[in-house]
Amino acid sequence: ADTLTVLGLESSCDDTAAAVVRQRAGGRPEILSSIVAGQTELHAAFGGVVPEIAARAHVEKLDLCVEAALSEAGLRLSAIDAVAVTAGPGLIGGLLAGVMMAKGIAAGAGLPLVGVNHLAGHALTPRLTDGLAFPYLVLLVSGGHCQFLMARGVEDFTRLGGTIDDAPGEAFDKTARILGLPQPGGPSVEAAARAGDPRRFALPRPLLDRPGCDLSFSGLKTALLRERDRLMEAQGGLTEQDRADLCASFQAAVTEVLAEKSRRALALYMAEAPAEPAFAVAGGVAANATIRAALEAVAAEAGARFLAPPLSLCTDNAAMIAWAGLERFRLGRRDDMTLSARPRWPL
Ligand code: KG4
Ligand code: ZN
Repeated sequence: ADTLTVLGLESSCDDTAAAVVRQRAGGRPEILSSIVAGQTELHAAFGGVVPEIAARAHVEKLDLCVEAALSEAGLRLSAIDAVAVTAGPGLIGGLLAGVMMAKGIAAGAGLPLVGVNHLAGHALTPRLTDGLAFPYLVLLVSGGHCQFLMARGVEDFTRLGGTIDDAPGEAFDKTARILGLPQPGGPSVEAAARAGDPRRFALPRPLLDRPGCDLSFSGLKTALLRERDRLMEAQGGLTEQDRADLCASFQAAVTEVLAEKSRRALALYMAEAPAEPAFAVAGGVAANATIRAALEAVAAEAGARFLAPPLSLCTDNAAMIAWAGLERFRLGRRDDMTLSARPRWPL
């Protein structure tokens, strides 16, 4: 196998990103650069990502990100073997901006184009960071996704289950909003929970009583809202301790549900007798120390190696897209100028 150097672009949600990944013949992949321009401030006043604003920002920032990624890698376009781009799933405006930019670069520099599924990018990250062999189990947990995938090959994923409503990150963000804590909610709820009693409030454990690996988080938020309103009515407000206890109780519920569903997914995975059993997490929620520790324990219990990529590669980035593109390219996959953005694109 030859040395391959791939430029990757990502613009499916609210991060504009470009990266260069190289894999020398028979060697481990190297991230030569990874540029991420976030848009948090642009959307802050609206309480969520505004698709139109996101699309405009991608159009404005993509070429700067590409330039920065190439210059940080110390490369010109002539040293690139292929251009990979997230073609879906995600917000149509951002996806279009990325796909058009990638097509422009590919056409201008005479380079092959490779479309990448954003979820495949997340799911293939453990191969980029740790060279994991197929098959491995991966849990994607972020503000937008929550699913268990059995990764069997570069283009071969089996979905074992996923959320039927909110993603856990979304639930953390809503919890923060309900309790008046800053966004993004994950880090602030985790921080508040440190001083809290996880047993004070008996919040539900959605879908735990049902078989399978599907999850649900929207009921948790409703239950939390009810507890908050009950306290407000009884006391006229919330104390710091109330907030901490609510956060701790919420986090304990999410952790327990994720751990139990992971146990079930691992049982399905281990039943296939993988040669090098491994359970990887990806996504922003993997930053949560309590959740991470619980998942690590579940993996150990099942006899699988536990893996959490560094946070910068867990959250949205283009290195994972360049890498997934490189893996597809090695298999001989190419897209042409008919490549289109696919807002919905299940793995
Ligand atoms: O992967 P990511 O950066 O973006 C996507 O959703 O694609 O994940 C962001 C999500 C947010 O909802 C954020 O609140 C959550 O990950 N998050 C956390 C923590 N840090 C970030 N959730 C729980 N605990 C954390 N420490
Ligand atoms: Zn993502």
